[in-house]
Amino acid sequence: MSFNIAVDGPAGAGKSTIAKRVAEELGFVYVDTGAMYRTIALGLLRKNADCSDEAQLEAALQDIEVSITYENGQQQMLLNGENVTGCIRTEQVSQMASISSAIPMVRAKLLQMQRSMAASTDVLMDGRDIGTKILPDAQLKIYLTASIEARAKRRHLEQEAKGENCTLEEIEKDIRVRDYRDMNREEAPLCQAEDAVLVDSSDMTVEEVVQRIVALVKDRI
Ligand code: DC
Repeated sequence: MSFNIAVDGPAGAGKSTIAKRVAEELGFVYVDTGAMYRTIALGLLRKNADCSDEAQLEAALQDIEVSITYENGQQQMLLNGENVTGCIRTEQVSQMASISSAIPMVRAKLLQMQRSMAASTDVLMDGRDIGTKILPDAQLKIYLTASIEARAKRRHLEQEAKGENCTLEEIEKDIRVRDYRDMNREEAPLCQAEDAVLVDSSDMTVEEVVQRIVALVKDRI
């Protein structure tokens, strides 16, 4: 039987950096489910789809095929066969992913794909509903969070390094909007699973968080 680790938490808590490192250390496959939602969002943006029009959305989704490959251990996202990994981290895609991921039809499209990856392989899967909905029987569930201030500061530093110039206030506002949407949607809202271990990374280094999670896994293997 495969060993599954579910890591959920809000945007900017460091999930993907930490999840990637933990998976590497344990030899698990890292599955970034946010990237799957982002790929659908990019497909919808390219089609100019109106998410409030159900029939239009359904038609658009039928033409959107999402698949995953791994290159040198790195997850690559394919949209109708095209590698779009480099195109899904823009603010426009982030906003569209936040809106479209609240739609049940969009979530249903990814559910089986996520479950079947975890059924056959030792995975560390990160997202918003992995411990609560996708992998309710995961052997370890982590709810990774950090204060809004800490998350905004980290994102600000990342953006500065990329030469983008959003203010800290703008970033904080964007995080609050996304948190609210992710936590208050009807379908699979972001929340801590009852049996998840809470890890607050506000005052921890990446290395400290990685080692904490690795220790939790080793306790359960
Ligand atoms: O983790 P991220 O920022 O790449 O996720 C992009 C969006 O997708 C985010 O608004 C939340 C949503 N998402 C989700 O609803 N469920 C998941 N399992 C993963 C991401």
